[in-house]
Amino acid sequence: MSRGGFVVNIADLVDAEAGTQNRRIFWDRDVYELELERVFGRCWLFLAHESQLAKAGDYVVTKMAEDEVIVWRQEDGSIKAFLNQCRHRGMRLCQAEAGNARSHACIYHGWQFAADGSLKTVPLEQSVYGPRFDKRQWGLREVPRVESYKGFVFGCMDPDAPTLPDYLGDEKWYIDIWTDIPGGIELLGPPARSIVHTNWKLPPEGFVGDVYHLGMTHGSILKVLGAPVVDFKSGMGMQATSRYGSGHAAQFSHHSSMRDQISPELADMVPPRRVEDVAPEKGEAYANLYTSMWDGTIFPNCSYLIGLNVFKVWHPIGPDKIEVVSWVIAEKRMSEEAKRRMKISVNRTFGMAGILEGDDMDNFEHSTQPNQGYFTRQGTLNAQLGHGLARLDPDYPGVVSDMVSELSIRGYYRFYADCLKSKNWQEIQHNSENWKEQLL
Ligand code: FES
Ligand code: FE
Repeated sequence: MSRGGFVVNIADLVDAEAGTQNRRIFWDRDVYELELERVFGRCWLFLAHESQLAKAGDYVVTKMAEDEVIVWRQEDGSIKAFLNQCRHRGMRLCQAEAGNARSHACIYHGWQFAADGSLKTVPLEQSVYGPRFDKRQWGLREVPRVESYKGFVFGCMDPDAPTLPDYLGDEKWYIDIWTDIPGGIELLGPPARSIVHTNWKLPPEGFVGDVYHLGMTHGSILKVLGAPVVDFKSGMGMQATSRYGSGHAAQFSHHSSMRDQISPELADMVPPRRVEDVAPEKGEAYANLYTSMWDGTIFPNCSYLIGLNVFKVWHPIGPDKIEVVSWVIAEKRMSEEAKRRMKISVNRTFGMAGILEGDDMDNFEHSTQPNQGYFTRQGTLNAQLGHGLARLDPDYPGVVSDMVSELSIRGYYRFYADCLKSKNWQEIQHNSENWKEQLL
């Protein structure tokens, strides 16, 4: 029996072509359990940035959905990830958030695990365990796939998933724009953390392409800051979505002016970007995004906002609660003082008490909690803005539309539905084959 009091029919949860979603996907415990298996158990999930794991022995503790993992730099320079649980009686192994260690000893009975996951020492092994005990069988459980793209380390629980570059697909073109800069980028930590009472899909949905909310939700704060009133006219920017999941870019063609007004101190810290630096080699489309303020999501639960320089992961904690983890995106070439000031500045907009974060999280909580009502949660939600106006553009990967559209939201839930109804990656790929036709 589901939390909603009715049995879930997976095929009814999302209508990809109509652009509607059943409210149960934001509340129902059965749907959530299916998401843990078929979304988070299959997709590549952000683990860490290589800048957090510079030396052998560096580790961070993070989550893949609700599974805690230790991400650990190995002696040979590779990165491995393990479930953060002692194999003896199940104690959380590493209690710290990050650090450097050659091994971790469990604080319950003292089993000690090496950085490669092997069980190294066991107290009283010789005197009380006897000959049948084989330490080699009791190493940490390893995340089967760990790969990096442009310094971003992802893990995947499904050995049969496509490679990370294949999974990112069209999104790579967009990621390259904000990572391929002189000297590279890094994530400044330690990350800020907060708990929000919302379903985990609503924040990434906002980041894939909800420009529509700006004027209403943030209208008062934009007015106070003297930022330009958002004029939703056609041709002002673009939005894109790709095969495996999210819409990736909500672009504002002339948006650096808005960034400068929302966060003028940030404009001083970030080295200037000029169209003429990249346009000759990369083309006008690339150059426009290179100098713009825009945002995106890597399906399922990792989002970024370029211009205000925030990078976020939305970890689910049940169907109606998340942990938000936020880093600052900095350029490595910036001075330490500029990075310090940048953290303060980014916290002012998208930190846990940021002036824009608060507006958004309030919306997400109040879009989740009403589903507690038995009749309320039996409705459908509408993401039909710009329906029928999507197109292909030779300059931009994916399916695109004008900036103010819900194309990317439809794209997000289209792939989400493919995950839920498919038993394995082979089926996901088969079900995704006509993704463009579903969105155009
Ligand atoms: Fe870890 Fe016993 S639970 S050593
Ligand atoms: Fe917002």
